[in-house]
Amino acid sequence: MKSKKKGKNLWRDHYTDKAQKAGFPARSVFKLEEMQKRWKILRPGQKVLDLGCAPGSWLKYASQIVGDSGRVIGLDLKPMDQPDKPNAQFIQGDAFELTQEFLDEIGRDFDVVLSDMAPNTTGIKNVDALKSAALCESALATAITVLKPGGSFVCKIFQGEGFDAFIKDVKKYFTKHKIFKPESTRKQSREIYVVGWSKKGGSHVRT
Ligand SMILES: C[S@@+](CC[C@H](N)C(=O)[O-])C[C@H]1O[C@@H](n2cnc3c(N)ncnc32)[C@H](O)[C@@H]1O
Repeated sequence: MKSKKKGKNLWRDHYTDKAQKAGFPARSVFKLEEMQKRWKILRPGQKVLDLGCAPGSWLKYASQIVGDSGRVIGLDLKPMDQPDKPNAQFIQGDAFELTQEFLDEIGRDFDVVLSDMAPNTTGIKNVDALKSAALCESALATAITVLKPGGSFVCKIFQGEGFDAFIKDVKKYFTKHKIFKPESTRKQSREIYVVGWSKKGGSHVRT
């Protein structure tokens, strides 16, 4: 069942309520959960970078899975409270403006890079798709810089202009990829997720 809150362009559905009941700030957690159930992308002990992490559902979910021996770093343009779990950290910043110094500081030994980044939309399909593709290319550039060989990448993209070129780029850097539309994605949404496994370029192999 859906309802539109008066005066706000905010759609609620049972995923929103379910997320709230489970203590997650956004329904987006179920999209990552679906991918996790299928492919076990996240594992205990891993180091994870979460691009576009606010309000923090993926960050919380990932930190629960990687556990005390793992670490999750989330980055977003918007401010957000630091997560309560000691293995999770929030950094405010722009994914387009990550410096080499910053990347050196967070390390180049990540197992997984997640990007659920979404641009401010204009309502013009081609413009929004291009803005989303630009964010994805930037997330991919970060992923290939900080991921270990063998690492995985999950990235949301709006279908449309720039989508095919992005898939071509993912194929260049990852051994295997899938395109996935979670059940929990709103029916009217053009968003879709691209998962890349086993970053090329070394001997580290996923088990
Ligand atoms: C759909 S929300 C992410 C939801 C999040 N995965 C969760 O589960 O709570 C998309 C986020 O991308 C962020 N974003 C958009 N452009 C960005 C950029 N250039 N750098 C960092 N974050 C960005 C937005 O601020 C927004 O918080």
